[in-house]
Amino acid sequence: MKNKTFCPTHPDYTMDRQIPVPVQGEVQIVMVGPWKVEWVEEIDSTNSQILRYSDVVDNMSVLAARFQSAGRGQRGNRWIVQKGVNLTFSIALRPGKDPVPDIKAAGQFPLSELSSLSVLSTLRDYGIPSSVKWPNDIYIGDRKVCGMLIENKISQDGGLGLCVVGIGLNVNQRSFDPSLMNPVSMASCPEGAGRVFDLEEVLGVLLGHYSRYLGMLASSPQGLHDEYVSKMYRLCEWHEYTDCRSGAPFEGKILGCTPQGLLRVLRRDGEELSFAFKEISYII
Ligand code: BTN
Repeated sequence: MKNKTFCPTHPDYTMDRQIPVPVQGEVQIVMVGPWKVEWVEEIDSTNSQILRYSDVVDNMSVLAARFQSAGRGQRGNRWIVQKGVNLTFSIALRPGKDPVPDIKAAGQFPLSELSSLSVLSTLRDYGIPSSVKWPNDIYIGDRKVCGMLIENKISQDGGLGLCVVGIGLNVNQRSFDPSLMNPVSMASCPEGAGRVFDLEEVLGVLLGHYSRYLGMLASSPQGLHDEYVSKMYRLCEWHEYTDCRSGAPFEGKILGCTPQGLLRVLRRDGEELSFAFKEISYII
């Protein structure tokens, strides 16, 4: 059908038809450059919704929710935030479909790199310095402002059919559940104190950077990697860690990471170690 476009909450929606009765509250579709952003009032999880419709979801579409009733985090955790004050959204990318470069299933780390750099650049635009705690948590000082959950659908030929990049960015929330480790938001960090940020605007800025870094992934993957490494949390500093493989604490210095995403850490005794995700825990 001409002009057919996919709407994650309304699979039979097309550009030349009215949106059917909204599932939960109002639905707003906005074009932000090449991105089709759909804002919904409430959904269980933006990642889950895109994955449910993975066969038909458009490349470069974004589902943003004012509230997630069952937001999902890393390691099977919940992602719990206040209603209407933060950004919770998922980006759908089809590797190999313009302007998304081909990303092989075995080499997905660049996706973490470009997603992290897009958030860092956004925060920088608002005057907030931040760093990336490997692999893709964004920190302001020693506090977490943003987490990501990247999930993939493998296509029949074994390639990456769809990448879903779920991003939870704390924007205007000022108090947090005491069970959370070390949360912060743009509005509760020293540089953002007293400010109220416009969620749509912040998302627009972020997607602008995302387009730029997608271009960089295509033209200069090494440059993207080098920029990621230069912005790593605790880079070249001595700190305490736990080696989750043995349970042993140790003092180490982060040297960077490999392009495949292994963390490189120098131990005090001079031995260089490398860690995959979940093999090391930061003592903060
Ligand atoms: C983490 O544990 O750090 C990852 C958090 C990821 C949260 C985002 S919010 C939007 C998207 N939808 C989800 O259910 N989770 C991700």
